[in-house]
Amino acid sequence: MKNEQGMAIVDRDEDGVDRAFRKDVLNGLRQRQKAIPARWLYDDAGSQLFEDITEVEEYYPTRAETEILKARGEEFAELIGEGRAVVEFGSGSSVKTPLLLSAIEPAAYIPLDIAGDFLRASAAALGEKFPGLPIHPVEADFMRETPLPDAVKTMPKLGFFPGSTIGNMVPRTAVDLLRSMRATLRADEGTAPLLLIGMDLVKDRDVLEAAYDDAKGVTAEFNLNLARRINRELDGDIPVDALRHEARWNNKFARVEMHLEAARAIDFSICGERFSMAKGETIHTENSHKFTRRSSATLLLAGGWTPVKRWRDSEKRFSLILAEATEQREAP
Ligand code: AVJ
Repeated sequence: MKNEQGMAIVDRDEDGVDRAFRKDVLNGLRQRQKAIPARWLYDDAGSQLFEDITEVEEYYPTRAETEILKARGEEFAELIGEGRAVVEFGSGSSVKTPLLLSAIEPAAYIPLDIAGDFLRASAAALGEKFPGLPIHPVEADFMRETPLPDAVKTMPKLGFFPGSTIGNMVPRTAVDLLRSMRATLRADEGTAPLLLIGMDLVKDRDVLEAAYDDAKGVTAEFNLNLARRINRELDGDIPVDALRHEARWNNKFARVEMHLEAARAIDFSICGERFSMAKGETIHTENSHKFTRRSSATLLLAGGWTPVKRWRDSEKRFSLILAEATEQREAP
């Protein structure tokens, strides 16, 4: 939902209920395998809990990706070159973004995010670190092709999508996103856009499951916060104490799944609608796909991007891939 300025706003009913949240929750819980889209994990409490997850021992992706960004600055400078407009999909991380920007001498920085408050706050913080760098925050849903400000339209672009956020999407949606990024980054003429994207790697099942079920229980809190949010915002009475956080590796789809499992049979209501869960039944709340060299290349190619270079951290847990928009040509 957008207002006249094209800004994303939350569509609320007369009781202040977020209509999209209610629709996703009610529809999701009516399905045979109950499932709620992962984006609803990130209210203010959930965003803070995710920040806390990045600090727990078992959750390696943030540390591994930061290690690559710190170690490979010279190679980024060589392969990416100076003078590109860096378009970051999702509001920037205070650690990762400066590492990239200081390595490559960009001509402008365009953070793109649906959450305007976070966007403006992180853009302001970045401006302090890089005086002289033109910063143009754009409030938009990065899943869709987005027009960029006139000031950067003709500049060659580098898309930046760290964190393995692409892994939260099923392949079909991931390909849609890669294609719309390609459309967003296309300059009117000249230099092909580049994309620097983080993709977490397939590894030992125990390591993966522990990363999503840490001993301190921070990830469990992050997952359970969704049930609390439903109770708070959608007039629910889910007995949260009857739900258990579960992280399970799904080998067929190469992903870690987060579920909320009922420890006993429960009944509850949300917005006046009744639901029940048998003992052991789950609500599927997130997917985090993991990649191999081949599967990451296939996904990128399907989205219109040719891999140019891949870096891994010293323990080979995580990959950062530089890709170039594939030139359109007739087959084969
Ligand atoms: C920020 C979405 C990439 O999937 O690893 C962390 C989210 N969920 N622990 C991930 C998350 C549970 C994270 N992403």
